[in-house]
Amino acid sequence: MERTLIILKPDSLQRGLSGRIITRFEEKGFQIVGMKVMKVSRELAEKHYAVHKGKPFYDRLVAYITSSPVVVMVLQAVNAITVSRKMMGATFGSKAEPGTIRGDFGLSNSYNLIHGSDSPEAAQFEIGLYFKADELIGYERATERWVYDTSAGDPE
Ligand code: RTP
Ligand code: MG
Repeated sequence: MERTLIILKPDSLQRGLSGRIITRFEEKGFQIVGMKVMKVSRELAEKHYAVHKGKPFYDRLVAYITSSPVVVMVLQAVNAITVSRKMMGATFGSKAEPGTIRGDFGLSNSYNLIHGSDSPEAAQFEIGLYFKADELIGYERATERWVYDTSAGDPE
């Protein structure tokens, strides 16, 4: 099982889309192991987006993510990072394929609704930035054995 950090960015909440986006992940079979609403501080945004410091869009990105509350979630699944990034779609709403979150809900090349960790290393770093260990809840799901084929042991 893999965990990833997902952020529903300010435009998701302002446009009333957060429930529909969360539903997509739930329906796909992701397990929610952490979730909260928060306002991202400038300090936290600068830590999160340190990899983008110096890029032309950096100042606008920090302003965007700190502009209004977000929903942060830790989602768990087999291949959670790859699958969630596919569901998000390409970075810009204008380029993202229909059927993806960005492709279905956005047009902007800046306000793109959602963030998802892009590697296991990034996920570990980002989950640690946004959540304390005791805010992540591991639990057994009643539907687990119908989400995955566990007949041979590992979930397939
Ligand atoms: P994210 O990190 O938010 O999941 O998005 P991503 O991997 O698809 O995109 P990334 O390259 O990591 O960029 C982070 C965020 O910066 C904004 N951005 N603007 N104007 C631009 O050229 C530009 N490029 C990136 C987007 O908000 C993007 O999500
Ligand atoms: Mg990224």
